[in-house]
Amino acid sequence: MRVLVTGGAGYVGSVSVERLVASGHDVTVLDSLVTGHRSAVVDGARLVQGTLRDRDGLERLLREERIDAVLHCAARSLVGQSAAEPALYYTENVVGGVGLLDAMLGAGVERLVFSSTAAVYGAPEVVPIPEDAPVAPINPYGETKRAFEGAMRWYGGAYGLRGVALRYFNVAGATERNGEQHDPETHLVPNVLAAALGRRQLTVFGTDYPTPDGTCIRDYIHVEDLANAHLAALELTARKHPTTGSPGSDPGSERPEPGGGDPTPGHGGLTVCNLGSGSGFSVLEVIRAAGSVVGRPIPYQVGARRPGDPAALIASNARARDLLGWTPRHGTLEEMIGSAWRWLETHPEGYPP
Ligand code: UFG
Repeated sequence: MRVLVTGGAGYVGSVSVERLVASGHDVTVLDSLVTGHRSAVVDGARLVQGTLRDRDGLERLLREERIDAVLHCAARSLVGQSAAEPALYYTENVVGGVGLLDAMLGAGVERLVFSSTAAVYGAPEVVPIPEDAPVAPINPYGETKRAFEGAMRWYGGAYGLRGVALRYFNVAGATERNGEQHDPETHLVPNVLAAALGRRQLTVFGTDYPTPDGTCIRDYIHVEDLANAHLAALELTARKHPTTGSPGSDPGSERPEPGGGDPTPGHGGLTVCNLGSGSGFSVLEVIRAAGSVVGRPIPYQVGARRPGDPAALIASNARARDLLGWTPRHGTLEEMIGSAWRWLETHPEGYPP
């Protein structure tokens, strides 16, 4: 298939591009390179530097490249930054995203897989979290992802967009070629490894959560497993209706309700899937696992809670297994952290500027 990957020079996007190219697909990457890295795009994919806000340019690109399906990874994705600069998040994640939808409509491209997030669940009452849990984001980042899911759902009902929204839990790890490099870096695994290298001081944000060791629990998923799920989701959108072939009769899909609001799953128009391993690890468990990977204990200090951190986020991944035929292959923390560590060892300066 001919796929456009927005944000294909970023962390998740670049690994998905690697996977798509390795599977014989024809890939065009659209990336502004504001947070992405040119050299993260594997040979064999075409890189176009541009933004989602150029709606007409996007439509032209979709037509010229005869795109069959879009994998939409481009986004602003820092929770803390989103609270300080919501305008940036609404502009890029919502306005940019809707521009992409409209360009797709114009060019007659109906298939879309979207990088969504567990942040749409906010602070969930029940873990593992099923896809039909209440959607109640607690920061602008999650809210803008939810807003775009909503647009996909309504466009699915009205215009026949065949969409799958993948709600990622905590992505970690690297391939041989591509790894995680954000500026600023806020994520736990890269911060722990930077502390192992003596490049930064590690702070554990809060030890008074209602969890067994008092630190937050998260569901970590290897970026390579995530890339496999993207491929499966893209293949799912080839069906007339992603889930069943006939709209509206599958528990994995959602259809707009008259009157709007936030339609609950169980209808038709958008397929939503969690991507997580189904098990959770605390911050201290991650630090210990990293210590065994690097062969020495990793120093840390205990600090205050970080605003907006829910105590525990763990996915129910039954739907991803059923609908996508997907199972995570790199399940252990050591495997995930080990691959990230190898990437740091082989790329000591990260990506070239
Ligand atoms: N943490 C630390 N110290 C650090 C960094 C993180 O203690 O230096 C803690 C956090 O407080 C949290 C846990 O480690 O308890 C994981 O934090 P991350 O920043 O790695 O990840 P988050 O769970 O905050 O966020 C991730 C994605 C978001 C997504 C969210 C949904 O980065 O984009 O998962 O689950 F919204």
